[in-house]
Amino acid sequence: MTAGTRRIKSVEDSIRDTEEPEHQLRRNLSALDLTVFGVGVIIGTGIFVLTGVVAKTVAGPAVAISFVVAGVVCGLAALCYAEFASTVPVAGSAYTFSYATLGEFVAWIIGWDLVLELALGAATVSVGWSGYLNQLLGDLGIPLPTSIAGETATVNIPAIVIALVMTGVLILGIKLSSRVTAIIVAIKLVIVVLVIVVGIFYVKAANYHPFVPPAQPGKAGSGLAAPLIQTLFGFTPTTFGVGGIFAGAAIVFFAFIGFDIVATAAEETKNPKKDLPRGIIGSLVICTFLYVAVSLVVVGMQHYTELSTTAPLADAFRSVGLPFFSGVISVGALAGLTSVVLILMLGQSRVLFAMSRDHLLPPALGTVHPRYGTPYKITMITGVVVAALAGFIPLTTLADLVNIGTLFAFVLVSIGVWILRRTRPELPRSFRVPLVPVLPILSALASFYLMLNLPGETWLRFVIWMAVGIVVYGLYGRRHSRFTIPGGREDASAANAARRR
Ligand code: ALA
Repeated sequence: MTAGTRRIKSVEDSIRDTEEPEHQLRRNLSALDLTVFGVGVIIGTGIFVLTGVVAKTVAGPAVAISFVVAGVVCGLAALCYAEFASTVPVAGSAYTFSYATLGEFVAWIIGWDLVLELALGAATVSVGWSGYLNQLLGDLGIPLPTSIAGETATVNIPAIVIALVMTGVLILGIKLSSRVTAIIVAIKLVIVVLVIVVGIFYVKAANYHPFVPPAQPGKAGSGLAAPLIQTLFGFTPTTFGVGGIFAGAAIVFFAFIGFDIVATAAEETKNPKKDLPRGIIGSLVICTFLYVAVSLVVVGMQHYTELSTTAPLADAFRSVGLPFFSGVISVGALAGLTSVVLILMLGQSRVLFAMSRDHLLPPALGTVHPRYGTPYKITMITGVVVAALAGFIPLTTLADLVNIGTLFAFVLVSIGVWILRRTRPELPRSFRVPLVPVLPILSALASFYLMLNLPGETWLRFVIWMAVGIVVYGLYGRRHSRFTIPGGREDASAANAARRR
């Protein structure tokens, strides 16, 4: 059996691999650590920047409903991730899950796809970080030249620096990273709660009218810039209206990215079967609640047509005569974005680690540091690539590409849960998705629907990236996979299959 689709790595093999000494990560995270991790990566550019962009240009005050829609889609996917993570508690998240269910080819596709979410996401947020830094320095009267900082920089020095510093933190070890994260997350939460508690006194009912602005012809010049679903069904592209709520949901989806990354820390968790579902679902629930509250407050403080698209939270406070709070929010945003970069890169290095352990990437890359117990080579490569992307490419429009990549992973994971229930019903699952197969199918359809609400050009870039991935698999992974080594995988899998019969 050499076809990639037939190479299914059994759950037992996945777990056994984690016991190889040279590929072993330390187990020291608890459910609370995981929730902190989740919140640390979830709250970031999405709420601090995209709330304003979406309210002003796509959905109006109904951006709050966009957050609810995106939260529901993520909630369905989170249940599926929780079941998977409690069944296959191994580093690598969606990649590992698909290897156990849909086979090596799909696993590779997912691993390749996750680069869009993780490395590209980290680069995007690093650029955002640089923008906030420069705004803060500007408030202090010492702005950096725009050629070396902020979103329009030619060489974005702060973005490069933040990516490289976070790489160093990751190489030194997960315990240090989770401690750093905990402090940052605390600052971030205080700021977000402050926005809600203080801002609510400045809400004007008039700003909520119209709550769902009437649909208008879209600014989109070409069909490629319009949501694919409008192009597919031959609608004239529009913004606002009910369509705007869904198009907005596909964009603010970025704000939820991260709960799935909690699953990548499976191997470093003390009691993964219980703690992972708690960490995944707990962090998602907390963030959904905060997002809806923040967006309602912000569109209530300032009319949606007046919102800033670069720093809407800070700007709303400035608009009601509270410039001090505006500065405090900028500091919080800066801290918040730091932990997002850190954890996205952590997720990326763990996925690549799992892929190299399976020899789909060169195995030498996956060795762990003798002293720090971290996959240092892969972490270093990830950091340099993220820094290079963040330093030289203006990435704002690429947030859509991050979203499509992540939603695609959600689709496959949801289907995978259903498949694994059928192929391995006997596996112990400490967390079970209710109403299988209805709920996983609903989850896959919901994620796919949000994908359709992204622009045609995003789809084009996505398809090209995936096509490149298929070529790379054909040239390297398929030939070097552990399945190709005599006794490397086939024997174990055949034995497992025989035992089940
Ligand atoms: N959810 C993360 C953010 O909004 C990626 O920055």
